[in-house]
Amino acid sequence: MTTTVPTPRTIDVALGQRSYPVWIGHGLLADHARWRAALKGRHALVISNTTVAPLYLDRVAQGLEGLHWSSFLLDDGESHKSFANVGRALEALAQLGATRDACVVALGGGVVGDLAGFSAACWMRGIDFIQMPTTLLSMVDSSVGGKTGVNLPAGKNLVGAFHQPRAVVADIDTLASLPEREYRAGLAEVVKGAAIGDPAFFAWLEEHAAALNARESAPLIEAIARKVRYKAGVVARDETEQGERALLNLGHTFGHALETAGKYKVLLHGEGVAIGMLLAAQLSERMGMSEPADTARLHRLLEALGLPTTVPPGMQPEALLALMRLDKKNLAGTLRLILWRGVGRAEIVGGVDETAVLAVLEAALR
Ligand code: NAD
Ligand code: GLY
Repeated sequence: MTTTVPTPRTIDVALGQRSYPVWIGHGLLADHARWRAALKGRHALVISNTTVAPLYLDRVAQGLEGLHWSSFLLDDGESHKSFANVGRALEALAQLGATRDACVVALGGGVVGDLAGFSAACWMRGIDFIQMPTTLLSMVDSSVGGKTGVNLPAGKNLVGAFHQPRAVVADIDTLASLPEREYRAGLAEVVKGAAIGDPAFFAWLEEHAAALNARESAPLIEAIARKVRYKAGVVARDETEQGERALLNLGHTFGHALETAGKYKVLLHGEGVAIGMLLAAQLSERMGMSEPADTARLHRLLEALGLPTTVPPGMQPEALLALMRLDKKNLAGTLRLILWRGVGRAEIVGGVDETAVLAVLEAALR
């Protein structure tokens, strides 16, 4: 059954023959005619999890009528973004008899999307997949750009592939059931895009913070669309992160250290990114790259969106610095960070002085 839905916002990720649309709007999971056109063959595997599937799998299933399809559900949580579960997803494709024109449908947040995309990249050396993100973070970040992968015990996202989806279906109706903390974590990724490269969007976020906190539909769609448009541009220019795309990691080196120090139980990824962006801003200010007024503006916006801005108590500066030394961006044993030149301008800086980093961490924990 196909339902009439309002026309969504559409952002194109321009990658030549691999270009794809990101649709953002209401009722899109049930807009079967729209996304079904992206399925070429007769087989589909929906990958979701035990939290999201009971809420939204039915809407997707109705659109798969007439196909050979099945579902594979992960247990909920980051620890299930594992190699073992990729093996199980591939088994599910084998059970289905999936041919090269099969499609994987990722219904869920970034954990589901990353694992489903990687499974699609592996099956028969790469089949189609569609992203149906159901968290704000996955709508504005992980579903767009083709980074897929899983974690190893040795670290997060250590195994993966660049594999672009055929389409991204961001149905904002699904955000109605998203827990408040997860919603705010997604807002951090929205702020990040504006802070890195879109000063007008940053100012717009300052004006619309209250509406976004209230999850008002029109501003929410606008915020998602602006962040996706920004990211789509970066991905189109630097798909495999040879340069500019690394800027999307503003706040991540600090943030990952905070997440790891809290054993992934204290902070959500977006919360780590929020605090991490502020620490990166403070470091940039200390290094003479930006002004105190820029840091203050970022601080105010994060606070207005209900995001944490302080390092959780009990963390140790030296221990955080040691974790930052493990970051994948580092080169030749020196810290390489994304730093800030104020609202809308970020930059990759190598050979960052560790004493300055330590001073920022010490000040944050004082
Ligand atoms: P997540 O997938 O764990 O989802 C967060 C929580 O919300 C989970 O408990 C999930 O079950 C639940 N949930 C999802 N949708 C819901 C809904 N509509 N209603 C109620 N509950 C819902 O976390 P996330 O923040 O979406 O994604 C984090 C993951 O994304 C991490 O693994 C991270 O590494 C990855 N990531 C990838 C990229 C990329 O470019 N590929 C970018 C950023 C983050
Ligand atoms: N989330 C960073 C990227 O997609 O490159």
